Amino acid sequence: MEKQIVTTNRSLTLETEKLLNDQVAKEDFSSAYYLSMASWCDKTGYANAAEFLYRHADEERQHMLKFFHYINEAGGHALQAELTGIEHNFKSLRAVFELVLAHEISITQSINDIVDHCFAIKDFTTFQFLQWFVTEQREEETIARRALELFDIIGEGGVGLWTIDQELGKLESFVQNSATATGPI
Ligand SMILES: [Fe+2]
Ligand SMILES: [Fe+2]
Repeated sequence: MEKQIVTTNRSLTLETEKLLNDQVAKEDFSSAYYLSMASWCDKTGYANAAEFLYRHADEERQHMLKFFHYINEAGGHALQAELTGIEHNFKSLRAVFELVLAHEISITQSINDIVDHCFAIKDFTTFQFLQWFVTEQREEETIARRALELFDIIGEGGVGLWTIDQELGKLESFVQNSATATGPI
C-alpha cells in the first residue's frame, strides 16, 4: 500500500475544496455537453457550428484542468468526475445555441457563488484564482448571445440556416476583438 502523504498545513478549507471539485465536474460536463452538440451539428450538416463547438469543448476541458491543478497545488485532492446525463440529440441549430447560453449562465452563477464564498471566508488566494473565470464567463455569455442574435437578424428561411452556420464560424474572433476594445488596458 502506498504511503499517504498528508499535508495538514494549508489555507484551502475542506468546504472550498469541495466547491472547487464540484466546479471540476461542471467544467467536465460542459466539455462533454459541447462535444455532443458538436457531433449532432456535424452529422446534421452544420460544419462551422460543429467546428465552433469542438473548439468550445476543448476550452472547457482546459477550464476543468485549471481547477484540477489549482486544487492539487493548494494541497487538496482534485477528483475526476463521473459524467452522466449527456444529451445526444437536439431539436434544431437554434435550440443548440439556446442551450449553450442557458448553460453558460448557470456556470457564471456557479462561479459567482464560489467567489462569494471565498470572499466571505477571506480566502483571497482562491478568490484571485477565480477572477480569470469571472472574465471568461463574461466572454462566453457574449458569444452565446451573439450566436442567438444571428438567428433573429438573418432568419432561418431559405439559405438562412446556411448563412447562420457560416457566421457561427466567425463568432470567436468577433468577440475577441470587442473584448480587446472594452477590456482592461
Ligand atoms: Fe468553462
Ligand atoms: Fe463555458
